Amino acid sequence: MGVRYIGSKARVADAILDLAGGPGGGRFVDAFAGTGSVAGEAASRGWPVTINDVLPSAVAMSIGATVGVGNVSFEMIGGYRAAIRALNSIPGYSGFLHAEYSPASVARVQVERRYFTEHNAARLDAMRGQIQIWADAGFLSWVEKELLLADLLQAANAVANISGTYGCFLKNWSVNALKDVEVRERSLPRRTTDLEAIVGDVSRVPTTTEDTVYLDPPYTKRQYSAYYHVLETIHAGDAPQVGGVTGLRPWKDKASDFSYKSRALGALTRLVLGMTARRILLSYSNEGHVPQTELFDALADAGTVTLHEMKTIGRYRPNAQASAAGSTVNEYVIEIIPSGVGVLSLPLGGRAEAVA
Ligand SMILES: C[S@@+](CC[C@H](N)C(=O)[O-])C[C@H]1O[C@@H](n2cnc3c(N)ncnc32)[C@H](O)[C@@H]1O
Repeated sequence: MGVRYIGSKARVADAILDLAGGPGGGRFVDAFAGTGSVAGEAASRGWPVTINDVLPSAVAMSIGATVGVGNVSFEMIGGYRAAIRALNSIPGYSGFLHAEYSPASVARVQVERRYFTEHNAARLDAMRGQIQIWADAGFLSWVEKELLLADLLQAANAVANISGTYGCFLKNWSVNALKDVEVRERSLPRRTTDLEAIVGDVSRVPTTTEDTVYLDPPYTKRQYSAYYHVLETIHAGDAPQVGGVTGLRPWKDKASDFSYKSRALGALTRLVLGMTARRILLSYSNEGHVPQTELFDALADAGTVTLHEMKTIGRYRPNAQASAAGSTVNEYVIEIIPSGVGVLSLPLGGRAEAVA
């Protein structure tokens, strides 16, 4: 029961990790982590993992995808299972989600925002409230809190009356939206993941010359902070000023340069050229703002640059227009070995070379 997410690499995570090779010295840094599908695969292969995303809700989802049994004991509240049971047994109450994202919104803004049924929105409010009570009382470690929030985001997503993103809600109730919201205990792998998690802009992620850095930037104009605004609000547990038919929270402070066609190439080039790493793997798509050849040429100065076509994958498309454009997308990974790292025989700024 994963979260559907624009640009998710769940289906190609194993192929990306094959390119990364085995763990050796440094960390695997997933700098645009999203749902954490790639970081999760890295953790399962024994990498120490660093997760970063500008959205706190994405970092929580990524923590959920990477932690193991050894990272969370939930000792203060009787274990993980007990925490999930407790959340599922809490009666709902009318909080922010109920007031703004269920039909109850009509009383305040004359719009029936049908993201959740009234019943489910009230229960989500209560579960979010309980996680905060535990956290404020010091009963949860930061990883335990983020794991429960990740579970809550999954639960919300499973009953959200949307067609994939929170850019809008459906006019009529979907079958899933009418089911009772339920938080599920995930089956955690038997390991303790060496995990660091950062919320912030990719340009500020600390890396070393030992690290393998995975970059999966947005490649279309869709801004994640707007498209997933309800997940952001559930994660924050706040009560922002929201507006319009969809009840959008302020999102522009998290608008991404990579989502603007005019800025994408410059932002990608600056990012890769300024990045310290042993190896950089950059995912991009032939449907993205920047044509493949332009991107490849712009990165040539970064070191030894190799193009890897990923298998053609069917992938989640958020709207009918995108679906009409075809059922597959050409994903590729540009591998960069920064100049002076492991390729001492090459002159600095070694020539780019395409390997299909
Ligand atoms: C293509 S998605 C990553 C998908 C991810 N690999 C997965 O499998 O779920 C891009 C992510 O980059 C994040 N993002 C966008 N601009 C960013 C920035 N400037 N710094 C850090 N993260 C950013 C978005 O919030 C989004 O989660």
